[in-house]
Amino acid sequence: MAKGSLRDTVRLDRFLSNQLGITRTEAKELIKKRLVTVGGETAKLYDMKISPESDTVCAESSPVIYREHIYIMLNKPAGVVCATRDRLSETVLGLIPDELRRKGLFPAGRLDKDTVGFVLITDDGAFAHEILSPGKHVEKRYFAVLEKPASAKDAEIFASGMTIDGGDKCLPAKLEITDDPCKVYITLKEGMYHQIKRMAGAVGNKILYLKRVSIGKLELDPDLAEGQCREILHKEIEKIYAKT
Ligand code: URA
Repeated sequence: MAKGSLRDTVRLDRFLSNQLGITRTEAKELIKKRLVTVGGETAKLYDMKISPESDTVCAESSPVIYREHIYIMLNKPAGVVCATRDRLSETVLGLIPDELRRKGLFPAGRLDKDTVGFVLITDDGAFAHEILSPGKHVEKRYFAVLEKPASAKDAEIFASGMTIDGGDKCLPAKLEITDDPCKVYITLKEGMYHQIKRMAGAVGNKILYLKRVSIGKLELDPDLAEGQCREILHKEIEKIYAKT
């Protein structure tokens, strides 16, 4: 076992619990059953210290790859809430398969229950803060179906930084009208409560369908069916911050 400074080490049961998304009791159980190796040797003590950066840990013969944080792209279906728990409805966390589960996962930003599309789920609070903060200008793009056709005047109002009901002042937003003027793309740099629905309402229209299609320059993977998710690769994280 490579030596790490005390600061860089972590208890084996905590490491397994964090990386595998299992409880500490389940981690201890794996160790007790002699199913965990550290540096090729069977681990005997659940409180042994390991260095996540340099020790090779295997559980049930599979290497436990150390990642400090995880980033997941989910294609949220309608009817599921963006919360870590809910007494009545299914939550986005309930759609995460066991192999991607971790302690501390939460959705970075909320879509309404009836909105579908790209939800980013992570255990990295600082990252979530960055991409949600309006000051960081990470754009979120939505596809919407409107009750009535959108007009060039609506696009001007959206671009001007409109005030919506309740007096909330919006940052300038982009409204792109497609060949069918009831189908539009809307790009926001912030995420106020029901923002797009309220913006549509402020110009006398109504949202019939709303889907988030990208965060920054990272687009929702078209191979993900509603309800499916996958891990976001490191190089894709850079796209979230990309400006062009
Ligand atoms: N704006 C809305 O009104 N709802 C969403 O879910 C996202 C943006």
